[in-house]
Amino acid sequence: MSVKIGFIGAGKMASAMIGGIISSGLYAKDEVAACAPSASTRNEVASKYGIKAYETAAEMAAATDFLVLAVKPYQLQGLFAEDGLAIGSSHLVMSIVAGVKIADLEAYVPDSKIVRVMPNHCCLVGEGAAGYSRGTKATDGDVEKVRSVLSSSGAAEEVRESDLDAVTGLAGSSPAFMYMVIDAMADGGVLCGIPRDKAIRLAAQSMLGAAKMVLETGEHPDKLKDGVCSPGGTTIEGVRVLEDSCVRSAFIAAVEASTLKSREMGRK
Ligand SMILES: NC(=O)c1ccc[n+]([C@@H]2O[C@H](COP(=O)([O-])OP(=O)(O)OC[C@H]3O[C@@H](n4cnc5c(N)ncnc54)[C@H](OP(=O)(O)O)[C@@H]3O)[C@@H](O)[C@H]2O)c1
Repeated sequence: MSVKIGFIGAGKMASAMIGGIISSGLYAKDEVAACAPSASTRNEVASKYGIKAYETAAEMAAATDFLVLAVKPYQLQGLFAEDGLAIGSSHLVMSIVAGVKIADLEAYVPDSKIVRVMPNHCCLVGEGAAGYSRGTKATDGDVEKVRSVLSSSGAAEEVRESDLDAVTGLAGSSPAFMYMVIDAMADGGVLCGIPRDKAIRLAAQSMLGAAKMVLETGEHPDKLKDGVCSPGGTTIEGVRVLEDSCVRSAFIAAVEASTLKSREMGRK
């Protein structure tokens, strides 16, 4: 099969992943395809990336053994009821559909190999953070294929499926928390006299730099924090204010609240 990976759904998330796959060189343009019912979506993804676009999921599944399910949760039932759709034992199905469990996916396509993924929207800029869990039939080789796709637009960790709600709290929801931090830091900069646009850029770059320090040095974040707090200096003054304001416990509670909400939504 010349198509190495096919996306069922060609919306925001599929488009971001296709961009990562092609720009990283994981697969060539003519090895990637997508499908969507509306011609406008198909034309957009085909012209943006130079890939083949099909109208139906049936055509997509016939063209490749590696499928990415990238439709909205409410669209799933209609999708699997489509005439002619044959997803069988040769197919590896990577699902990014939020909240839909492996058991439910295996009920739709009982012979297929499933890997369920919880991505976050930073894959739009190649810096996604995703968690993934394997279904009962997925092999190490299947999981490696999924991992390489996720790595082309960020980083990924394998977790138990029961922990995917916590991945939602920690990585799925947290870009919103980080945007709030950047905005608040910029407010602080403005309060102290820096123009808004410059304050936002400096705050965002500081967060990016701190994240890279953690990932690239492998040091514990607390050790890095200690390293920039000179005795009696400026940084420890700010750290004291954050500790007085219980910022750590606020973040712990925010991740827990998002996780609990994800669990609750999954039960419905
Ligand atoms: N956005 C996020 O930050 C995020 C984060 C984590 C997980 N997710 C999950 O990722 C999935 C996709 O989200 P999204 O934001 O990319 O959604 P989206 O932009 O609405 O894209 C959905 C795509 O599915 C297509 N589609 C609908 N029914 C179809 C069918 N029967 N056959 C083939 N394609 C079909 C739509 O085609 P048309 O354009 O033709 O209607 C559209 O291209 C969702 O399940 C979501 O829960 C999203």
